[in-house]
Amino acid sequence: MKDILVTGGLGYIGSHTVVQLIEKNYNVTIVDNLSNSKIFILDNIEKITGKRPHYFNIDLTDYNKINSCFSKNKFDGVIHFAALKSVSESVNHPDKYYHNNLNSLLNLLRCMKENDIKNIIFSSSCTVYGQPDKLPVSEKSPFKEAESPYARTKQMSENIIEDFTNSISYLSAISLRYFNPVGAHHSGLIGELPLGTPDNLVPYITQTAAGIRQELKIFGDDYNTHDGTAIRDYIHVEDLAEAHITALQRMIENKMKSKYEYYNIGTGVGYSVLDVVKSFENVNKLKLNYSFSERRSGDIEKMFSDCTISNKKLGWNSKNGLDEMMSSAWKWEKNISKFLKG
Ligand code: NAD
Ligand code: UD1
Repeated sequence: MKDILVTGGLGYIGSHTVVQLIEKNYNVTIVDNLSNSKIFILDNIEKITGKRPHYFNIDLTDYNKINSCFSKNKFDGVIHFAALKSVSESVNHPDKYYHNNLNSLLNLLRCMKENDIKNIIFSSSCTVYGQPDKLPVSEKSPFKEAESPYARTKQMSENIIEDFTNSISYLSAISLRYFNPVGAHHSGLIGELPLGTPDNLVPYITQTAAGIRQELKIFGDDYNTHDGTAIRDYIHVEDLAEAHITALQRMIENKMKSKYEYYNIGTGVGYSVLDVVKSFENVNKLKLNYSFSERRSGDIEKMFSDCTISNKKLGWNSKNGLDEMMSSAWKWEKNISKFLKG
C-alpha cells in the first residue's frame, strides 16, 4: 500500500481527492491547519470511505513541525493543495499570500529533499496564463503578466518546482492547472466551504438559493459572447480529484516522459454565467433571484481550456456535465448549515 501526504487535504479539492485516494487503497496522511476548512470534513471523509485518514493540524510554514511529520513516515508521494486562494484578498494582502503560499512550498520541498521523497503533484491554476492571446488555452501558451499576487504565487511555485526537479536527480513533479472547479461530492457530505461572502460564482448561486444572499449580481451583460455574459470552463470537483489519481499513478509507475510535467484540467467547454444560472434552475427546479450589474474589474471575457494534452498524455477525461455540477453543488449547500451546527 502506497503512502501519500496530502497537504490541504481538508479543503475543497483536497478532501475530494483524499476520498478517491482511500477508495483506490492508498494510505493517506493529511496536513491542514484549518485556516480555510473545518474538522467535520475529516468525519465526513470517514463516513464516505469507512476509513479515517491520519491527520496532523500543522501549519506548513513551520518547518520543524512539518519535518517531524516526514521523519515519522516514508511517503511515496505528496499532493500539495494547501494555499490561500482568494484573488481579491491577495491584492490587499500580498505579504500574507507570498508568506503562506511560497514558504509552505519551500518547506515541503526541503523536507522532501532531506527525506528522499520522489514525487509531488502541485495545485496550479489557469490563472498562470494571465490574459491569453488565443483560446482555447493549451499548455503551449506562455505565462503572461500575472493579474494578482495570488496568480504570481502560482507562477513562481511552478518555476520553483521545476528548478527543484532540475537539481534533484530523483525528484519528479506534475503541476495540474485547474480551470474553474465547482460542484461537490455526490454524497452531499463534502464540498466547498467559503468563509464569509463568496467571491466565486457557484457558491454565490447556492447561497442565494438558500436565502443566505438576497440576489446574484451577474457581472456584465455586454461581453462579446452568445448571451453577453462571461465564459468560463467549469470542471466538476470529482473529475478534478480523479486527475490527481491519474497523475499520481503516472508518477509512481515511472511513466513520466520528463521530470516536470504540467497539464490543463478543464472540460474544454466554455459556459456563460447565464448558462450556469439556467442549468442550476432547471436541474434543481428552482428560480434564482438575479440581476445584471457592471463588469467586475479585472475579469476577462472568455477562458476555456484545450485539454488535448491531458486527455492524450495523462489519459484523463472529464465525465460530468454542467447539470451534475449544479445538482451536486445544491445538494451540498442544503447540508452545510447542519454540519456547521454539529
Ligand atoms: P481550500 O481553501 O478549500 O483548501 C486549501 C486547504 O489548505 C484549506 O483546508 C486550508 O486550511 C489549508 N491550508 C492553507 N494554508 C495552509 C498552511 N500554511 N498549512 C496547512 N494548511 C494550510 O482551497 P481549494 O479550493 O481546495 O484549493 C486547493 C488548491 O487548489 C489551492 O492551492 C488553490 O490555490 C488551488 N486552486 C483552486 C482553485 C479553486 O477555484 N478552488 C482553482 C485553481 C487552483
Ligand atoms: C476566479 C479567479 C481565478 C481563479 C478562479 C477559480 C478572479 C479575478 N479570478 O476566476 O484566479 O483561478 O476564480 O477559482 O477572481 N460572477 C458573477 N457574479 C458573482 C460571481 C462571479 O457574475 O457573484 C461571474 C464572474 O464575473 C465570472 C464568472 O462568474 O465571469 C466566474 O467567476 P468566478 O467564479 O469568480 O471565477 P473566475 O472569474 O474565473
